[in-house]
Amino acid sequence: MILDIIHKKRLGKELTYQELKTFFNGYLEGDVPDYQMSALLMAICIHGMSEEEIFALTKVFIDSGDILNFSDLPGIIVDKHSTGGIGDKTTLVIAPIVAACGATVVKMSGRGLGYTGGTIDKLESIPGYRIDLSDEEIIDQVHQIGIVLTGQTADLVPMDKVVYALRDVTSTVDSIPLMASSIMSKKIAGGADKIFIDVKYGNGALLTKKDDAKELADLMVKIGKCYQKEVRYTLSNMNTPLGRTVGNSLEVLEAIDVLRGVEKDNPFVDLCIDIAAHMVSMALEIPYVDARGKVVESIRNDSAYHKFLELVKAQGGDLSGLKVSNHYSFIKSPCSGVIRKISALEVGKLAFRLGAGKEKIDDPIDYTVGVKLNKFVGDTVKKGDVLATLYYSDKAPEYEIDNIYKFE
Ligand code: URA
Repeated sequence: MILDIIHKKRLGKELTYQELKTFFNGYLEGDVPDYQMSALLMAICIHGMSEEEIFALTKVFIDSGDILNFSDLPGIIVDKHSTGGIGDKTTLVIAPIVAACGATVVKMSGRGLGYTGGTIDKLESIPGYRIDLSDEEIIDQVHQIGIVLTGQTADLVPMDKVVYALRDVTSTVDSIPLMASSIMSKKIAGGADKIFIDVKYGNGALLTKKDDAKELADLMVKIGKCYQKEVRYTLSNMNTPLGRTVGNSLEVLEAIDVLRGVEKDNPFVDLCIDIAAHMVSMALEIPYVDARGKVVESIRNDSAYHKFLELVKAQGGDLSGLKVSNHYSFIKSPCSGVIRKISALEVGKLAFRLGAGKEKIDDPIDYTVGVKLNKFVGDTVKKGDVLATLYYSDKAPEYEIDNIYKFE
């Protein structure tokens, strides 16, 4: 039976719900070994899946664990997901803004994978911050302060945890059907009423082409419809790092600067305002322009920043303990000219080599290291100007400046 299923997909045929259920549940229960699941995943990568198969696989994923129910909480709950990027700290900014605008925020985030960082790793750079709240604690905290930012519970789509780990090491991550079922199963099981997805494309994203990102986004809207969940999305460029920093503590500090209005008028801030406005519009059922006005005002009057402080305190965090390494070196401009490109992928790799990410699931993360961009794309620089600061613990890494920057 298991071999027949692999063979069927290898021939490019459609699998039934029952076949997908048997195979994937068998894997979760340990009856199907890694090598057979790897073969099926590769066949899916090569031949794709029909919409019916993707809907069926999403259901198998959702049914593998708990389905959270927040219907007792006030208001419409809007969840947000990013397909992963370099320097992507949008959740740290958006969640307190949306809560400060009067919407209820229950956000369960994940860890980084490959060169892309995860919100939970960034939050853990704040000493004491708890990312393992129980369902009861989540409900209590939402009643008290209207916002929770925590990790995904072990029982939330356990199928995704095991399959994702295997995809990560079998070159089967960037499959649109597998991504759609992985993401949407977690969002639907996570109990949100409505969902906003930030689908990234570019050299620092899982999907490099914008057309593929659009295909994934449209598919997720269709999956949402099957569960009566409104899904909106944005397609955002990940050829350049998002914002000024890549690295856990550095990104928390940058998020605070955005919330305090210190960091403004750059593509990262614009993206945060846009996503937050969509979420507020969906949660409060008001037009986007009105929601955008509320979002901008929450930054101007510091209410979003205060909501962030309230959140950190409620979850046990101590911002005064947030540390950035005091060892640093500079990347200096080799010429005078205009910066035409800063490669997100190369900056991600650099931060990774500094110790900001994990190669294997159990590797430790150094929260204090990372890259801070002193100049952006479009800036005019002189030879010797500081382009970026590298924060390191042991030894500054080697890098090829031509791989990271292009000048004109
Ligand atoms: N993010 C996810 O949660 N799953 C994927 O498959 C890709 C990105």
